[in-house]
Amino acid sequence: MEPIVKIENLKKYFNVDKGKLQAVDGINLEIMHGETFGLVGESGCGKSTAGRTILRLYEPTDGKVIFEGKNIYDLSSSQMKEIRKEMQMIFQDPYASLDPRMTVEEIISEPLDIYGIGSKKERKAKVIELLNLVGLSSEHAQRFPHEFSGGQRQRIGIARSLALDPKFIICDEPISALDVSIQAQVVNLLKDLQTRLGLTLLFIAHDLSMVRYISDRVAVMYLGHIMEIGESEALYEKPLHPYTKALLSAIPIADPDVQRTKHQIELEGDVPSPIDPPIGCRFADRCPYAEEKCRASRIPLEEVLPGHKVACIKVREINEKEGLL
Ligand SMILES: Nc1ncnc2c1ncn2[C@@H]1O[C@H](COP(=O)(O)OP(=O)(O)O)[C@@H](O)[C@H]1O
Ligand SMILES: [Mg+2]
Repeated sequence: MEPIVKIENLKKYFNVDKGKLQAVDGINLEIMHGETFGLVGESGCGKSTAGRTILRLYEPTDGKVIFEGKNIYDLSSSQMKEIRKEMQMIFQDPYASLDPRMTVEEIISEPLDIYGIGSKKERKAKVIELLNLVGLSSEHAQRFPHEFSGGQRQRIGIARSLALDPKFIICDEPISALDVSIQAQVVNLLKDLQTRLGLTLLFIAHDLSMVRYISDRVAVMYLGHIMEIGESEALYEKPLHPYTKALLSAIPIADPDVQRTKHQIELEGDVPSPIDPPIGCRFADRCPYAEEKCRASRIPLEEVLPGHKVACIKVREINEKEGLL
């Protein structure tokens, strides 16, 4: 399988009063054609900034995003406009992301208008097609966002993101603002669209429970760094990084026979500030296994099992003791 997107040493720092806020600090990911890739981590760890920088909604501080063989940061604005058709984003909040003064038809056809695609009649037909694709109907076209439930609004956002027939979509916590009862419906819709349209998805979430069902592979992020990457079942059944173990032990287990990790790690303290953070492992201050050497220098991701990478120098010691390695 070939990567559709290759993210190399991507950094995004923000200059703030107190110093440099390192929201994304050198991440490397390869997302394969047709794959759903999950990106998880607690609030504030840099997921949205990573997503926005990957689509060049933010200019990077450093690094490359190679999309279909081209570094998008080298492209001129007109070349960038062309490539944006291929790369879209679905936002977290379906209330804030839809203009309340526009009808559903206007919202969904806006990208087509911007790119001057199709006649008025063709655009109308495309809107109906998109509405059907996301489980809505032509009757909904002339209504306004406030007439819809949260789940329906997210469907409208999804239809809009599909208007230009993109290949790659970043879904930034598309279900976390929704009622729990409808979250699964929206996840299933995305999964279904992914298969039917052959899309590649980067699915961002703050916990692993939903991501597991939709993703082929998952990366776990903490304070701007990637801590662990693996196939989603492997990561869920056999988390190797202490931070991933902690994230998972926060999820209630439905099956009482499943003993996911031998040690339940409680996450103590808060996520530290990403302003001038320590140079070593960023999880060290909350990690029960941390030693001085963990704080000495940046810990690279290392392939511990085939396709399973972990950024922890104590990964063998910790997991051999638990019988996981
Ligand atoms: N435009 C901005 N200016 C300054 N700081 C920002 C900006 N956007 C995000 N941040 C900071 O970057 C860090 C990562 O934020 P974000 O990417 O939104 O995290 P997540 O999506 O994982 O919750 C946070 O500390 C946040 O306060
Ligand atoms: Mg976010």
